[in-house]
Amino acid sequence: MKTEGSLRDDVGEILITEEELQARIAEIAEAISTDYQGQDLLLVCILKGAMVFLSDLMRCISILHKIDFMAISSYGAGTETSGVVRILKDLDVSIEGRNVLVVEDIIDTGLTLGYIFRNLGTRQPASLRTCVLLNKPERRLTTVPLDYLGFEIPDKFVVGYGLDYGGWYRNLRFVGVLKLESMASRI
Ligand code: PRP
Repeated sequence: MKTEGSLRDDVGEILITEEELQARIAEIAEAISTDYQGQDLLLVCILKGAMVFLSDLMRCISILHKIDFMAISSYGAGTETSGVVRILKDLDVSIEGRNVLVVEDIIDTGLTLGYIFRNLGTRQPASLRTCVLLNKPERRLTTVPLDYLGFEIPDKFVVGYGLDYGGWYRNLRFVGVLKLESMASRI
């Protein structure tokens, strides 16, 4: 059984601390609360990585809103985008005429968010925006509008705060760079 201490040992550099994450998320939530004041707002969380971000973000948002979830397949068990994007779980509700804000943990190639944005855009929402915690601009293959953004990060394999490697490390409270030897031992 891995302990919290040994999990931390698998990570080298900490890119974004827990305090930095929480401070930035509070700022984003305040902006969202102002921008959508008096409007019907639906947060669409993309499983599984964004659920930690959604959980903190929604509790910092001060206006009425609802949430729903989609699950998308874009990565395999490794670290590279497969290029194959498909819906594993669709929304429970119709978004026609609603203000939709897609919540994602990270945009890398942009294939996943690009697909979601185009797909949801065909469902006649009143508005459609994105809220992304981490942006890796170096690896972008397709353009997607980023309306609310947490942090820009370099092209390193990051885990923690919802982000995983083979399903591991989502529970870390910070965003850090996984050590190469940890990758090898976790395949
Ligand atoms: C990650 C992340 C994004 C996507 C970003 O999801 O949550 O959805 O990859 O990569 P892209 O910009 O190159 O498309 P992943 O498929 O790893 O699933 P998970 O959220 O369940 O970990």
